[in-house]
Amino acid sequence: MELTKDLKDMLEGKYSEGAALALKVQVGIGECFNAPRMVPITNSHVALSNQEMDLWFAEKMVGLGARAKISPTVNPGFCLSYFKQHNMVTEEEAEHMSRVHEAYKTLGCRLTYNCTPYMDTNVPFPNEIIAFSESSATPYVNSVWGARTNRESAQSALCASITGVVPEYGLLLDENRKGDILVEVKAKMSSDFSYNLLGYMGKKIGPGIPVFVGLESYVSPEAHRNLGAELNTSGAYGMYHIVGVTPEAPTLDAAFGGKKPKRTVVITDEDFERVLATEISDPGNRKIDFALFGCPHTSIKEVRYIAKALEGKKLSVPLWIMTSALTKSNAEKMGLLDILRAAGGEIVEDTCSDQPCWHLYKGKVGVTESPKCAYYPRKRGLEFVIRDLDTCLKAALEGAVI
Ligand code: F3S
Repeated sequence: MELTKDLKDMLEGKYSEGAALALKVQVGIGECFNAPRMVPITNSHVALSNQEMDLWFAEKMVGLGARAKISPTVNPGFCLSYFKQHNMVTEEEAEHMSRVHEAYKTLGCRLTYNCTPYMDTNVPFPNEIIAFSESSATPYVNSVWGARTNRESAQSALCASITGVVPEYGLLLDENRKGDILVEVKAKMSSDFSYNLLGYMGKKIGPGIPVFVGLESYVSPEAHRNLGAELNTSGAYGMYHIVGVTPEAPTLDAAFGGKKPKRTVVITDEDFERVLATEISDPGNRKIDFALFGCPHTSIKEVRYIAKALEGKKLSVPLWIMTSALTKSNAEKMGLLDILRAAGGEIVEDTCSDQPCWHLYKGKVGVTESPKCAYYPRKRGLEFVIRDLDTCLKAALEGAVI
């Protein structure tokens, strides 16, 4: 791979041992994909996970003197102050999260602890070359904003943030951003929840860049978020097109770059019904113990919708909304947090569904509108019924999914 003089110096340790290691990792990735050179980035997002490997790598980089050249936004772990104060995590778990916080702080990251940065705190421009990890973030910034990133891991995005460059291959190049699969949507798309179900069709859609037809001409930010998150729960997708909606797909021909689709997939109501009764969704018509929303993080529009639906009512089970600190702060100023708390609900910032802070629900059944929320915490012993938001709220009020 061709490297500039400055990058050769970085590789030899001119800046820090950490920067040299970060670049070595990226050169290795670039060589795997025959990237001819490195190109500069102007933005990044690191999918911090608060897991062992995440902490190991971040602390290793700190120890080697690495610092972020491009300060990335980061994913949620759990809100240390809230869960510690409410005795919902052990000393050991709190200590782990605290070390994660210190490591990323020392690296110079923006401690946003939010998995939907593309909706407010980290919005790239069209054609901007960036390094984004996180399952809903990568397809969103490529597909909706027209920015350019490969499907980075948390570690490769951190390396890119340290070096300020990425290897030039894959979705950074025009020719790799064209559609492969024509997806004809014949299922009824009645709400943003339908996009959760459409995204969860990844196994049926198969590998490649999907081009969706048959959708409305307006697809909300929340629907795009849901689609990308679930495509990457059921498969691995860096990008999609919606004809007449996303910027690189003004027409079917443009979406495919003049090529013919490799295959055509049709999505029907029966496909959606199967997801609702799959292995990840506990069968309905049963008592529930809690409700959990915000995987990926809830928008202020959704917080407002939930608060209005619960105003003046009493929940039968605890209801949790996970969102960014910014959205929580807005919800507080708008009086929504008070409404939710009066009903028995709570908003937690900086928190992910796949974290030890939810261990109190081990062996219990929750309700959620997100297949992703049902999928990952399952390994921690949490079960979920997946339903649309209105049905979830009714269930939380009544204590059962009917
Ligand atoms: Fe966000 Fe965690 Fe879900 S990072 S998308 S809340 S698994």
